[in-house]
Amino acid sequence: MNSATDALTKLFGATQRIVFLTGAGMSTESGIPDFRSPTGIYATLTSEDVFDLDAFLAQPERFYALAMRLLGGMRDAKPHAGHLAIAALAREFGKQVTVVTQNIDSLHQDAGSPVVLPVHGTWETSHCLRCNATAATRDLWPSVEAGRVPRHENCGGVFKPDIVFFGEMLPAAVLAEAGNALRAADLLVVAGTSLQVYPAAALPGLRRSACSLVVINQTPTPLDAQASLHFAGPVGEILGAAVAQLRAG
Ligand code: OAD
Repeated sequence: MNSATDALTKLFGATQRIVFLTGAGMSTESGIPDFRSPTGIYATLTSEDVFDLDAFLAQPERFYALAMRLLGGMRDAKPHAGHLAIAALAREFGKQVTVVTQNIDSLHQDAGSPVVLPVHGTWETSHCLRCNATAATRDLWPSVEAGRVPRHENCGGVFKPDIVFFGEMLPAAVLAEAGNALRAADLLVVAGTSLQVYPAAALPGLRRSACSLVVINQTPTPLDAQASLHFAGPVGEILGAAVAQLRAG
């Protein structure tokens, strides 16, 4: 164990209201690619190619073909030691933990974190753009795998996953709840996000001056200089080790 991990363990022990702001780097150790790493989704595509509302409306078949290639693996992904460590802080150690995540996978929820705020929406559900009916995205997948755009069986409208596309507003109530958690936090851990996308990237600016800041990200972020602790390593290993150490006392 190194002294930085010791310091993180002590921070977890000493604080009660903890917010995690997570991004795609939180899920790479579960086998889901991030966006802006050299091996990320945007190495070969732009955000306009994949997650743009106008592009989706014009060519949903193109989105679903890309989604099948890029996001198909998400269905089999499992939470890793980092997701489990965050959940343990709430469930085992009684911390008041809020996970504000930009991720559309449900790995924080699968790990058992009780309060997860998915500010960029979720892949779990979809809705029909014509009649607004809701469906579980997994139930639409056989259609996608057969090369068809999933449509509502009655009205024929196209289903769109409930993820926030560029050109759409973030869910206001979720964002407001995230802001409230940030303003009340004793500790903010920013993990696995390049902090390039707003308004999520502005959320850390809402923290109190008394709130400690930890950044865990393999590459530099705009917040590194403000962090009292900074780790440029794998978030799953780091969080897993810090919480294991807390458990060991
Ligand atoms: P990015 O791909 O921009 O950033 C992920 C960060 O995680 C990178 O800086 C990596 O260096 C780092 N990273 C990768 N694996 C890691 C690991 N195992 N441990 C620690 N760090 C690791 O992803 P986001 O910041 O989440 O939006 O991107 C924000 C938004 O841009 C996404 O939610 C998505 C995208 O366009 C929408 O789809 C609306």
